Amino acid sequence: MSNPVLQNILNRKSVRHFSDDKVTKEQIEILLRAAMAAPSAKNVQPWAFVVVTEREMLDLLADKLPYAKMLFRANAAIVVCGVPHKAGDGTPAGYWVQDCSAATQNILLAAEAIGLGAVWTGVYPRPERVAVVADALNLPEDVIPLNVIPIGVPDGQEKPKDKYKAENVIWNKWE
Ligand SMILES: Cc1cc2nc3c(=O)[nH]c(=O)nc-3n(C[C@H](O)[C@H](O)[C@H](O)COP(=O)(O)O)c2cc1C
Repeated sequence: MSNPVLQNILNRKSVRHFSDDKVTKEQIEILLRAAMAAPSAKNVQPWAFVVVTEREMLDLLADKLPYAKMLFRANAAIVVCGVPHKAGDGTPAGYWVQDCSAATQNILLAAEAIGLGAVWTGVYPRPERVAVVADALNLPEDVIPLNVIPIGVPDGQEKPKDKYKAENVIWNKWE
């Protein structure tokens, strides 16, 4: 596949090992623009993005989150948060997870596209992780952290996986 967008999708991988090179504010802004270009039900955009760049906070989150230890080496992190009240009454309660997941994937793809590495580390729906992140970042009551995305310059260890499986495709009707 020579199309550059498809190439980028296929090259994306979870990156958990980073070099010492810095991530710039301009690069973070590109990731945020990509995030907010995501689709959302009724276009309500029920999200907020907490950008963490301070070493102390990155280390605190790394310390408290069992599966996000790569934050110790990351230069920055984006915490993708759902803000369900932005959706109003007309939208089913669970749609914010899907909307914020779409924004998350856009961040991961944009990171790949500009030579950065990132990994989705899950927070919601694990109550203990939600509590840790909400407390550390002083999130308001109705702001729910879906994930923490550590970001850095990849050290080159990780490679994309070929996950295409024909058996996962059902044409027309399940037999
Ligand atoms: C909802 C969700 C939660 C995840 N949580 C973690 C996590 O806590 N820590 C981690 O290292 N990776 C986490 N991952 C990344 C997956 O392990 C990774 O996407 C998967 O192994 C496939 O590898 P790839 O992203 O390189 O294709 C998570 C991914 C998703 C979608």
